[in-house]
Amino acid sequence: AFEVYAETSDVTVQVGPNESIAAALKAAGVRVQMSCEEGVCGTCICDVSEGTPDHRDHFLTDEEKEDNDQIALCCSRAKSSRLVVDI
Ligand code: FES
Repeated sequence: AFEVYAETSDVTVQVGPNESIAAALKAAGVRVQMSCEEGVCGTCICDVSEGTPDHRDHFLTDEEKEDNDQIALCCSRAKSSRLVVDI
């Protein structure tokens, strides 16, 4: 599990092994825009200001993934114990 702090909403969630960041945020009342929920469309892309994403999407380019400043909330996870996202 890892922790995600949704900066704009001022909400912190714990993301378990069997749920997505988006699902954990939604359960905490954060509105997450989503469409494909499979890492393809880019609708759920969000800026990351702290922590290291574990990219699982097929939307961001390799270069964008290396920058580690955006994340697909529907499917990607965290390599760090905490992520801060702009939502
Ligand atoms: Fe399509 Fe996340 S909802 S990439």
